[in-house]
Amino acid sequence: MPGVFDRKRRRAIVRKISEDYEDALSTYFGTKRPDQVAAKYQHTGYVAALESCGVEVEILEVLEGHPDCCFVEDTAIIFEDTAVICNPGHPSRAGEVESIAKRLSKEFEIQKMPTDTMMDGGDVIFTGTELLIGLSTRTNANGAAFLSKFAAERNIPAQIIDVPKTTLHLTTVCSVPRNGTIIAAEGHLRPDQLEMFEEVIWVPEDEAYAANTIAFEDGRIIISEGFPITIERVRNAGFEPVIVPMSEIMQADGSLTCLSLFIG
Ligand code: GLY
Repeated sequence: MPGVFDRKRRRAIVRKISEDYEDALSTYFGTKRPDQVAAKYQHTGYVAALESCGVEVEILEVLEGHPDCCFVEDTAIIFEDTAVICNPGHPSRAGEVESIAKRLSKEFEIQKMPTDTMMDGGDVIFTGTELLIGLSTRTNANGAAFLSKFAAERNIPAQIIDVPKTTLHLTTVCSVPRNGTIIAAEGHLRPDQLEMFEEVIWVPEDEAYAANTIAFEDGRIIISEGFPITIERVRNAGFEPVIVPMSEIMQADGSLTCLSLFIG
């Protein structure tokens, strides 16, 4: 399909954990302030996992004064030749996008969003054939309408999904590891919202965090440590889990995909 950004995941941008990471936003998964030193260690392991799956990783320096700056997924939506720069849905994150736009302008056309829009990249999933756009506390109807139109102009259909109030982003409770398959968290998403998928791998509600994964064409799938039922279900579905500790990223409501912006 012309205009579709492929899902091969060969190159990714990540950003280091900030010195003030303990002040990162946290509403859903956090039970305590995240441990910044442990988060740095886990981030290093995460980068190593990406590299072990064949991803060329570019590591950006910390953005001073932005405790959430490691969550680069939220800053842009990448199309084949254009990067749509998000208008973050939380004011404390607004200052993260300028430096990403500068970096992405080296190889993409830059499309800024209108001022009345709000969008975090964590609310957008490309399934391989279409975009799923979550309406959440971070992405408003104007943001979803803008991105739907932008995608339609590139022959990419989009569907809007209501993100439940129990969670931050659409990607927090689901991921699409291969065309036609979604991994989704029970108690957050409903079967009727996922009828476009041939296969749903349900994650038990008490393992909801594990619904966010990063899969590759060869069947390897990066998945968070500590969620044995989900890991077993994913393995039974034909994937080869690459398990990484994420506890201190989870404390700041960050998931695996939040830490990467795939650009190729
Ligand atoms: N801590 C991630 C976010 O709330 O944006």
